[in-house]
Amino acid sequence: MSAKTRIAIFASGTGSNYEAIDRAIQAGDLDAEIVLLVCDSPGAKVVAKAKKNQLASFVFDPKTYPNKQAFEIDIVHKLKAYQVEWIVLAGYMRLIGPTLLNQYQRRIINIHPSLLPAFPGLDAVGQALDAGVKVSGVTIHYVDSGMDTGEIIAQEAVPVKPGMTKAELQTLIQKVEHKLYPSTIQQLILPESIRL
Ligand code: GAR
Repeated sequence: MSAKTRIAIFASGTGSNYEAIDRAIQAGDLDAEIVLLVCDSPGAKVVAKAKKNQLASFVFDPKTYPNKQAFEIDIVHKLKAYQVEWIVLAGYMRLIGPTLLNQYQRRIINIHPSLLPAFPGLDAVGQALDAGVKVSGVTIHYVDSGMDTGEIIAQEAVPVKPGMTKAELQTLIQKVEHKLYPSTIQQLILPESIRL
């Protein structure tokens, strides 16, 4: 029997990428186990989804901590307790600080709804529409200390049709995200999933 790679999902919002990764695992397309949800927004929909799936979660309110280092120390303790090997950011709308980066070097990945380096930061879909681009897309990258700046792992283009609304483009982009994220994670963990 091979041991499954233990991943933590970090999310702040709806959690559709969390659900897509979970579905891929259930379908046998991804040899990983989601062992923990980390969420910085107690009312987020993703929290209820994790609870329904009986997934352990660490949900915190950053306002109750003096600074980023303080809550990241708590996060690292949780990650160690759950023996997390990879951190998968799925709509976690917060920069990762040195406390976490140093513990999980090249083990933290993020998904972003544009073809980086174009349109980093908030509302990437709106930014792309405002710029009038004909092609946008999805990027998966390693996380560094910058805003959506780490080394790119995978990208997929999404055509932007004339007159497309933000909601329409968002839907197309998320459809791509929900396939590209699980398959990219599988490629990354492949060498680990065949260990005894
Ligand atoms: C996703 O579209 C993801 O690309 C984006 O947040 C959304 C989360 O959706 N992330 C960023 O913009 C990061 N800069 P979800 O909660 O339904 O998975």
